[in-house]
Amino acid sequence: MTFQKVRKAIFPVGGLGVRFLPATKAMPKEMLPVVDKPLIQYAVEEAMAAGIEQFIFVTGRGKSAIEDHFDRSFELEETLAQRNKKAELSMIASLLPEAGQVAYLRQQQPLGLGHAVWCARHLVGDEPVAVLLADDLVKADKPCLAQMIEAYQQVGGNLTAVMDVPKPHTDKYGIVQPGETRGRLVEVAGLVEKPSPAKAPSTLAVIGRYILDPAIFAELARKERGAGNEIQLTDAMAKLIGRQPFHGYRFVGRRFDCGDKAGFIEATIAYALEHEAIGKATRDMVRRFAEGLERDGA
Ligand code: G1P
Repeated sequence: MTFQKVRKAIFPVGGLGVRFLPATKAMPKEMLPVVDKPLIQYAVEEAMAAGIEQFIFVTGRGKSAIEDHFDRSFELEETLAQRNKKAELSMIASLLPEAGQVAYLRQQQPLGLGHAVWCARHLVGDEPVAVLLADDLVKADKPCLAQMIEAYQQVGGNLTAVMDVPKPHTDKYGIVQPGETRGRLVEVAGLVEKPSPAKAPSTLAVIGRYILDPAIFAELARKERGAGNEIQLTDAMAKLIGRQPFHGYRFVGRRFDCGDKAGFIEATIAYALEHEAIGKATRDMVRRFAEGLERDGA
């Protein structure tokens, strides 16, 4: 069976970034750079590598830096050209999606991830759509969304990336009640948003990559509130269980929780260690820190 091509992706970028204050007071959290690239650009590049053709940003007040980032910048380009900075110019040009490929819409009220996705319903229409949360940075040889789209071609329905998390952390995630496992695909028999460790049906957590059937929009339209009094995407997905296939996909790669300070630093170190220009300097630096810690008995 072949399923419709996944051509569109939603990037919910309306969140306030409270965990990163004061850095995010005037700057969108999605613009925080890991080494030299903003988080949102990693997500957009991952979507592009997976064949996504249309990029829908669900945004909010104070997020215009994201729009500027994916737009022409005449003063900068002019100055770089005058200074004959060819490499920088071509790097800036490579960021630009084609005109008309990107759409921005405002969420208006922060009512939850489910609500953010629902806001994009008219732009998505009646076709499957990917959702990428830029906070979840996935480092992988084959980009996570590309892996998922391949798996989606076998099963259709709803698909979400999953990974095991430590039991005390279940209250930070959507947690899967697993059914049958086939390779990297796990049937989702149930899904609970942010359960306490005592109530969690497993330690298999949803991370911020989804492929959704358009039937999700009718569920989200009910605007039922869930955990944290928010309209949750996981609740709407759970409602579709039994009506369409729903799988978790154990992706190959390493995920960093860049919504969290420690996770963000870990991502920065991991990417810096492999960076063409600063990899060696970073390795030396990390070694010096480790030696210092050992010496101090820390
Ligand atoms: C969201 C989802 C949650 C998922 C998580 C992954 O939560 O609601 O189901 O496990 O992303 O990062 P948030 O981190 O936005 O609270």
